[in-house]
Amino acid sequence: MIHTAVLKKEVLQYLSPQPNENFIDCTVGEGGHAEEILLKNKPEGKLLGIDLDPQQIVSSHWLEAHFQNRVTLVNNSYSHLQEIIERKNFPCLPVGRGQIHGILLDLGMSSAQLEGTEKGFTFKIDQGLDMRYNDQMGYLTSEKIVNEWSEEKIEEALREHGEEKFSKKIAKKIFEERKKGRIKTTFQLIEIIKDATPSQYWRGKIHYATRTFQALRIAVNDELENLKKVLPEAISTLSAGGRLVVISFHSLEDRIVKNFLSEEAKKGTIKILTKKPVCSSREETKVNPRARSAKLRAAIKL
Ligand SMILES: C[S@@+](CC[C@H](N)C(=O)[O-])C[C@H]1O[C@@H](n2cnc3c(N)ncnc32)[C@H](O)[C@@H]1O
Repeated sequence: MIHTAVLKKEVLQYLSPQPNENFIDCTVGEGGHAEEILLKNKPEGKLLGIDLDPQQIVSSHWLEAHFQNRVTLVNNSYSHLQEIIERKNFPCLPVGRGQIHGILLDLGMSSAQLEGTEKGFTFKIDQGLDMRYNDQMGYLTSEKIVNEWSEEKIEEALREHGEEKFSKKIAKKIFEERKKGRIKTTFQLIEIIKDATPSQYWRGKIHYATRTFQALRIAVNDELENLKKVLPEAISTLSAGGRLVVISFHSLEDRIVKNFLSEEAKKGTIKILTKKPVCSSREETKVNPRARSAKLRAAIKL
């Protein structure tokens, strides 16, 4: 499945790439946003594309072929942003030209990861429970969480990372079921969630397993901590006048971004460009339903 980049027009509006400027796409994915930036910062502007998932880096290799020496791709976590920049010596230009004019974070996962991998991200396909973006960088899997964490810790993860109102009931059921044998697949887990929740919950607007799956994915990949770590690194990395754009897909992420930006604005390090989060248009959500929950926030470094 090909990923459609969300809020493309708005990303360009807030990042405002100009010829010869340099950008970092912390979540390069399949390169949808990166391509738009590279079309604007030609002829000599550079782009550093980072992604934690090695498969996504493979999917963005076409950028290197198309834009040649203007693209550097790195398979790593954006939580190591400054280290990556130093190691790659990005943007490696003569003094005065070596500035970083914009940083983009398009959080969460791509359609390709959701439906095209065997990591158990989706409840639509029966797969093993894994959910790691990168097997080499973490040993924690969703299978380990449901089978090895205490009932209390599972409950807390579902409540805090999934805002799941039936977190207690689901954690209790997981704990009971795993006594019979290891919970290994997405469909096994979905059955457990179904058994633990009332029937009206099964007919809700979102699938009854959505919040549990989100919570597990966030916990496995330490997504909220990574976000908290990258935001200050991104601000200190940007040159004065440089822009930060963040797209989030659920309220936990958006709250972290919103609070961070307002703290920085109070300190006088940035000016917020989006008083309210920017959402996708009705036209965009019609063709790309994933865009429905996208929220974009942007700031400029002072
Ligand atoms: C929504 S997709 C980005 C799509 C991209 N903007 C495009 O146009 O194709 C989010 C990407 O973030 C990556 N990701 C998640 N956590 C990450 C992390 N800690 N560091 C780097 N990349 C991460 C995922 O692997 C995924 O490819």
